[in-house]
Amino acid sequence: MGMQWLAITFLALPLVVRAAAGGQWCYDSQDPECGPSHWKELKATCGGDKQSPVNIDRRQLHRDGGLGDILFEGYDQAPPGKWKLTNDGHTVMLSLASELASEHIAISGGGLPGRYRALQLHFHWGSPARNGSEHTLDGHQLPMELHIVHINVKYRTLAEAKGHPNGLAVLGFFFQVSDTSNTNYNTIVAGLRNISRAGDSVDLASTFRLSTLLPGASQLSGYYRYQGSLTTPDCSEVVVWTIFEEPVEIGREQLQAFVSTLHFPAVGPALLKMTNNFRPPQPLHSRKVFASRAATASGGSPRRGCCQLVTPLLLLALLGPCTITP
Ligand SMILES: *[C@@H]1O[C@H](CO)[C@@H](O)[C@H](O)[C@H]1NC(C)=O
Ligand SMILES: *[C@@H]1O[C@H](CO)[C@@H](O)[C@H](O)[C@H]1NC(C)=O
Ligand SMILES: [Zn+2]
Repeated sequence: MGMQWLAITFLALPLVVRAAAGGQWCYDSQDPECGPSHWKELKATCGGDKQSPVNIDRRQLHRDGGLGDILFEGYDQAPPGKWKLTNDGHTVMLSLASELASEHIAISGGGLPGRYRALQLHFHWGSPARNGSEHTLDGHQLPMELHIVHINVKYRTLAEAKGHPNGLAVLGFFFQVSDTSNTNYNTIVAGLRNISRAGDSVDLASTFRLSTLLPGASQLSGYYRYQGSLTTPDCSEVVVWTIFEEPVEIGREQLQAFVSTLHFPAVGPALLKMTNNFRPPQPLHSRKVFASRAATASGGSPRRGCCQLVTPLLLLALLGPCTITP
C-alpha cells in the first residue's frame, strides 16, 4: 500500500509539474484550465491594467479632432513574391513581412506616433453558435475580427518593439455576415483547407492588394483609438489600437470555412476544431477610448441620432421662408 502510493506520487509528480510550468496557453474552447483567465499565471503582464481587447462603449467615447485619416502605403499594390498562410495553433495568420516587399506596406498619420510597417494579419472567430470578435461594441461581440499587426519602423525586431509603449500598431476590423461571398477573401478561404492541422502552412497562389480585404477607402475615416496590448500571451502592453467603425462583409459560407476547417493542436487522438479563439474584453481602468474626427459615434448620442433631429430643423429653416412668403 505504502509503496504503491509512493510509486503513484513519483509517477504523477512530473506530469503535474510539466502541466503547470509548460507555458502553454490556450482558449477556453480548448481547455478552461489554460484559458484566458489563467494567462496571468504564465505571464504577469496579462494581468496588467492596459490589456486588450476592451469593450467599446459608444456612449463613453472621447472625440479627438487630431485623429484624421490614416495614410495607407502599399495597401493598393500586390507585392512581388509569395505570402505564407499558417495555422499557428491559435489562429490563421498571413505573413506579410517577407523580404523587401513588406517595407512598402506601412501606415502613418491618423494620430499614430510614427510610421509602422505591416508584419502579419490574422483572425479571431466564434463557432456556429456564437460570434467571436475580441473587441466588443456596446457590449456585443461581432461575428469575426481581423487584426493587421504593424511594427514601428524605429524597431528592427518584435522583441525590440515589445520594449516600447508605441512599439506596435494593430488595425482591427469587425466582420458582418452576408448571404453572398466576398470574393476578395477567396484566396485566403481557399488556403484554409491546406492548413487544417496546427503547424501547417501553405504558400498562397498569389499576393493581392491588402486594401481589398478592407472596407472601401472612403469608409476608413471612422475609427476608435486606445492604448492596449497584444491579446495573446505575453500580452505586451505596447499596442496603439485602431478599431474601424465600418465592418467588412464576409459570406456566411466563408465564415463557416474558418469555423469548420481549422483545428487546434491535437491533444491525444482527438482533433479539436479551432473555434472561439478570442480573448474576452479586459477592464479599461483609467484608459480612454477616442473617436476619430469622422467617427459616427462619440460621447453621448451617436451622430446619426443628432442628424435625424438636425435635418428636419434645417429643412424647416430653409423651407420656412419659402412657404411663408408667396
Ligand atoms: C452577432 O453579430 C450580429 C452582427 O453581425 C448581431 O446582429 C448579433 O446580435 C450578434 N449576436 C450576439 C449574440 O451578440
Ligand atoms: C491545397 O489543397 C488542395 C485540395 O485539398 C490541393 O489540390 C492543392 O494542391 C493544395 N495546395 C497546396 C499548395 O498544397
Ligand atoms: Zn489578434
